[in-house]
Amino acid sequence: TTQVKKICCLGAGYVGGPTCAVIAYKCHDIDVTIVDLNESRIAAWNSDHLPIYEPGLDKIVFERRGKNLFFTTQVEQSVLEADLIFVSVNTPTKKSGLGAGFAADLAYVESATRQIADVAKSSKIVVEKSTVPCRTAESMRTILEANSNENIRFDILSNPEFLAEGTAINDLLNPDRVLIGGLQTPEGMKAQQALVEVYAHWVPTDRIITTNLWSSELSKLAANALLAQRISSINALSAICEATGADIDEVAYACGRDTRIGPKFLKASVGFGGSCFQKDILNLVYLSEQLNLPEVAAYWKQVVDLNEYQKKRFVSRVIKTLFNTITNKKIAIFGFAFKKDTGDTRESAAITLCKDFIQENAKVRIYDPKVTTEQIFLDLSEPGVVDNTKQLKNRVTIAKSAYEASEDADAIVITTEWDEFKVSIELDYQKIYDQMHKPAFIFDGRLILDAEKLRNIGFRVHTIGRAEA
Ligand code: NAI
Repeated sequence: TTQVKKICCLGAGYVGGPTCAVIAYKCHDIDVTIVDLNESRIAAWNSDHLPIYEPGLDKIVFERRGKNLFFTTQVEQSVLEADLIFVSVNTPTKKSGLGAGFAADLAYVESATRQIADVAKSSKIVVEKSTVPCRTAESMRTILEANSNENIRFDILSNPEFLAEGTAINDLLNPDRVLIGGLQTPEGMKAQQALVEVYAHWVPTDRIITTNLWSSELSKLAANALLAQRISSINALSAICEATGADIDEVAYACGRDTRIGPKFLKASVGFGGSCFQKDILNLVYLSEQLNLPEVAAYWKQVVDLNEYQKKRFVSRVIKTLFNTITNKKIAIFGFAFKKDTGDTRESAAITLCKDFIQENAKVRIYDPKVTTEQIFLDLSEPGVVDNTKQLKNRVTIAKSAYEASEDADAIVITTEWDEFKVSIELDYQKIYDQMHKPAFIFDGRLILDAEKLRNIGFRVHTIGRAEA
């Protein structure tokens, strides 16, 4: 089989960066070059302050950078030299045109593919790492083959990434499985084997699954749809709990003890966020519609609709509890990232919640340990509105700590499950209580607080999935 000696990765984002850094860390015999068009992102990867926060990432990058791990904007050179190229560029939901709001925008994948076709002077294995609709490899193959000749061939593989932000390095070092799809032809299977051998440097071979191309592409969308569906299912049940006196944590535990169901991903919350779940399900919905399967499309669409409902329901509960008005009330927002241990805010539930609170003329004071002030204002600005930051700054302030955020506040809303917000881990809730307006409310949107302890201090505590006490 072909032995991979040089890897190039197009796209130095949340996926391309950590994935290829781990390959370099585990395969000292392979040179790995990560390329991006975005110069400041590459500069950050080459600096002491990496562009993304991910526990354990620094150590791995600092250890291999300059040895067999390189970050550059020199696309041509890197593609020319590589035997295997990962395409790990962004595939956001289309904003306009056919399929707007549902379909994945494949413009970046296509332009990356064309770049490869234009530059390559020798045979390459091209690997889809980005999450793409089923049968995208076909389009990539058509573009590449139109540019190949008897001296150059392109083999296409699908190798979707299953890492979760916040635990990316551990997920990459100890993956549940690695999935590699390829055409089931002798050449396709040879290419597949070449990538299997890269992962086999550290992943047990029984965890490396090989399938046909289309199964691999669809499995990524399917896995995210199934994961998000569990969250929407438990969130739907949380609404029933609030109305009946059942407790969602108890229900989730009782159900999760059934080994057929299992305990993971059954935590109720203000709703899922992140760049992937919503995008990938909408992508699956669009695919189903294209395949003339409207019932299937409607089924998966409901997972996203329920998520929106959950956020709205939480906002209504906050407003209703605060005596039906939050005008000029101070609301402390604990957490802005879409989950703990990441600085990523893409599709974060906190964005929707804050926008709704601002609409109601509340004063919002936000604290997140990893998200920058600029990012928060960017996320809260309405696209197309010319500079509404000034207006926004009347309503929104950024705090440097949970204490600063809750000073004089009427209510605290927990939007991200950062460990530092947990009672008696780090925060002194008595101190927080003393400095708040009374009655002092806490809304736990992540089920991380010990409500009893907080009530003993004097707080009025409202928790997702529990009736008001
Ligand atoms: P990202 O937006 O962080 O990174 C993508 C990078 O690609 C950007 O820095 C962009 O400048 C660069 N890029 C675009 N076109 C390029 C080109 N032609 N040449 C070189 N660089 C180019 O996106 P992220 O989060 O890394 O996601 C990438 C893909 O991986 C998406 O398809 C996503 O759905 C998928 N994915 C993401 C996961 C996540 O947790 N973020 C997990 C699993 C899959």
